[in-house]
Parts: sequence; C-alpha cells; structure tokens
Amino acid sequence: MDEKIIIFDTTLRDGEQAPGATLNQKEKMEVACALADLGVDIIEAGFPVSSKGDFESVKEIARRIKGPVIAGLARCVNKDIEAAGLALKPAKRPRIHVFLATSKIHMKYKLKKAEDEILRLAVEGVKYARKFCRDVEFSPEDASRTERDFLCRVVEAVIAAGASTVNIPDTVGYSEPEEFGSVIDTVVNRVPNIDKAIISVHCHNDLGLAVANSLAAVKNGARQVECTINGLGERAGNASMEEVVMSIRTRRDIYRGLSTNIRTEQLTKVSRLVSKLTGFVVAPNKAIVGANAFRHESGIHQDGVIKERSTYEIIDPKEVGFAGGEGLVLGKHSGRHAFDQRLQALGFQLKEEPLNRAFERFKDLADKKKDIYDDDLRTIVEDQITVIEPVWSLDSFEVYSGTSLTPSAIVKLKKKGKVLNGASAGDGPVDACFKAIDKVTNLQAKLSDFRLEAVTSGKDALGHVSLKLTARGATKIGGGSSTDIIEAAIKAYLDAVNKFED
Ligand code: KIV
Ligand code: ZN
Repeated sequence: MDEKIIIFDTTLRDGEQAPGATLNQKEKMEVACALADLGVDIIEAGFPVSSKGDFESVKEIARRIKGPVIAGLARCVNKDIEAAGLALKPAKRPRIHVFLATSKIHMKYKLKKAEDEILRLAVEGVKYARKFCRDVEFSPEDASRTERDFLCRVVEAVIAAGASTVNIPDTVGYSEPEEFGSVIDTVVNRVPNIDKAIISVHCHNDLGLAVANSLAAVKNGARQVECTINGLGERAGNASMEEVVMSIRTRRDIYRGLSTNIRTEQLTKVSRLVSKLTGFVVAPNKAIVGANAFRHESGIHQDGVIKERSTYEIIDPKEVGFAGGEGLVLGKHSGRHAFDQRLQALGFQLKEEPLNRAFERFKDLADKKKDIYDDDLRTIVEDQITVIEPVWSLDSFEVYSGTSLTPSAIVKLKKKGKVLNGASAGDGPVDACFKAIDKVTNLQAKLSDFRLEAVTSGKDALGHVSLKLTARGATKIGGGSSTDIIEAAIKAYLDAVNKFED
C-alpha cells in the first residue's frame, strides 16, 4: 500500500483571494461538490470571520459536502476561532486552521510583538480551537523566513497544545527548492514531538517555484500539500494541484511509495469549471490542463506520437481527462449512448435528466454545426450544469447592422414566464443588444473584459463569450456560447446580470 500525500485544497480560500476571483455562495458550492468528486482530502472552504458571505458559504459547505474534511481559517484571535467553530459545526469532519506570523519582519512591523508573546498566543489559539474541534491545524505564517530555532520552538509548542497538523507556509513565495526542503528537514529532525503531527506545506508562486518547493518538501517528509486548482491564489497564486498531483504520479520512480487520492481523469473538468466561474483564463501552455498541454504541432513530434505515444508524451492525456483533444468525435447522427460515453470519457457523469437536456442541446448544435469536437461537448455541459437559476433568460433577438446603418437591436427577455421587450441603438450590434437588455433589466452595469473565443476551429465553430459587469459596487463574471456570436454575447451578458439578482 502506498503512503498517501494528503491533498488540502484551498481554492475557495486562498484561491478566492486572487484579485477579481470572487465567487458567490452557489458558485462556491459548485466548486466544493467538484472538489469532493475529484477526491481531495480536505477542502478549505473559507475564512468565516472575514464576512457574512464567507461564514454562510463555509457553513453550507460544511452541511452539504460529505467525504472530505472541511476546514475554516482563523487568526489566533478568539472571535475568529469562534466564527470558524460555529461555521464548521454542521461538518462531519471539521478542521480549524489557525495561523500567526512568526518571521522577524512580520513580528516587528505587522504584529509589533516579541517572540515570547507570539509563542504564547500560538499556544492559546490552538488550545482555544481545540475546544471547538479535535482536528486543529496551525500555520506559522511566513515560516520560510522565520529563524529556524524559533520556528522549531513554535512547532513543538503548538503540537504539545493539540495541533495535529503543522503547516509550513512559504507565504511570500521567496524560497527556492533546496532551501525549502531543508526547512522541512530541520522541522523533521529538530522538533522532538514531530511524530505527533502531520507536516503540511503551503507554497506561493511569486518566483514561479510553488510546485517545485512543495515537491521538495514532500521529499523531505511533508505529507500534506496545500494547493489550488489552476494555481489560483493571492498575487502570483499558490502551488497548482494538478501539477503537484501529476508530478507525484508520473515520477513514481522518484516519489516511490507515495500517491494521492485524486481521481486525475477529472482534473481537466474541474480546471475548466474553476476557470469559468472565476473568469481566470488558463494559459494554453499551462502544464497538465492548458489547451496545448497535449497538442503536437511539429511534424516530427506528430510522427513520433503516432509511432509510439511515449516518444513525446510523458502523460497519457486520458489520465487527466483530456480525451483526445480536437479529434472529431460526434455528429448529427450520433446517438444518446455514444454521446453519454464520450461525456464519461471527458469526466462528466450526468444523471438522466441533465443528460437528456445536454443531449437536446447537442442535437440542436449538430443541426447548425457539422462536426462536434470534445471542446464543444464540454461547453454544452458546462453551460448547463451551472447551479444558478436564471431570473432573466433570452426569448429572441433581432439586430440591424451594416456599413451604412446605425446598429440597433430588439431583445426579448423572459422573466417568470413573462416576455419583456427592449430596443436600443448602439456603437455596434453587440453594444445595441446590451443597451436593449439594460432597458429591460434596469441594471446600470459597466462592461469590462469582453472576450470572444472560438471553442474549436472551423467556420462553424461554437463561439464563447466571457465578460465582466460591474454594478452596485460588485463585479460579476458571465459566460455564454452559441454558433452565433451575438447570441453568445447576449447569453454571457445575461449570465452576469442574473448573478446580481442573487
Ligand atoms: O500564505 C499563507 O501563509 C497563508 C496562511 C494563512 C496559511 O495563506
Ligand atoms: Zn497563502
């Protein structure tokens, strides 16, 4: 039996701290469900004291998600720990994660406290958290820049106080792998009671070394890795889960006897979900989940892969749910069974009703578009699995545009079964549609980040629009797709408008 590396996912906490990546409660639940299906061991669901919304999200995730441990973050302050304890009450397996900075810089400038006081607060924080739950994790924030003697004293004291996991964060992404590995080695060898706790690591990517540092830590005895989907997180982000997991799996010769519980064939699906909900586009050349991660452009490489896949591929794309890239898969005459099989190969297990709806959309699309590719199928399913019930939906639209016309549009929207019309001129047909929608919905929103992408290649490709709307002091992301790019833009706009109705 392999020894397990515990995967602690912090997409919903540190990941959501990425500027502009805010998720609403329903979206967080959708991500939490996907993470549970993916097989993560621990979901850090949020920072309950930070806002009412975060508190409610952690509570709801704690109530509904079975399987993984649900963690909530708290500073070493009673009110934070109480909020975390309360939010986590419905969880079957709760964990309170308390943190306090221990580096000289943080103690002097941020906390204005001396070592002895920090040590006392850390111990008191852990003891107080233990009153709310048995599973307590402690993080000496900025551990990688902490004096090693003091770090060891803190780690020993918090374990004695009842912490069963000690997390060593590289908070500002300053470490380099050999150095970070040696910090873990110091903790392993110099903390007398270290066998009573799991050593965790939490690396940031400011120098692009978060994954390398996490893996160096594993080699030196860390058995929990804190990471996020797509490497999302504060500033340059956190260690990317897909890269950590696939490194351990692919290089079994190096990580001998170690494995994770992650169902890797779902990685692409979950990466796309997080990208869609946060609006953070995954770079095409991103390792493991980028669109080009398994595409071979050079003739020499293509020829090699045809002769023997392993010549240029170190991972079978199927292992991460990248089922065959752009290959032609289905068409107008494909049946429901073939459709379902292909979705399963892409990591989607749909129940009867959602499968029927997706199949209907597939048939509609196949009428307009001759060849249906994997990415088309993913888009169909991703568009419909969103848990947000739309208040506004598109009934129909007409646009008038041309070189000698002022662009104008009539858009008919449905709300609670009633159809309402809006008409407007605009700078272009899309702008006219958006202005017509504004007239119906009465939402004075500012548009930013409008992006149109072809989902696959070819003249009849499905177009996907993603955009951001800002109104009432909040920013919401919207996405929509269609073979008609104006319809895709309207759907994306309505998707964002509906999020203001929550
Ligand atoms: O980066 C960091 O140090 C953190 C802690 C709260 C673990 O996010
Ligand atoms: Zn962090």
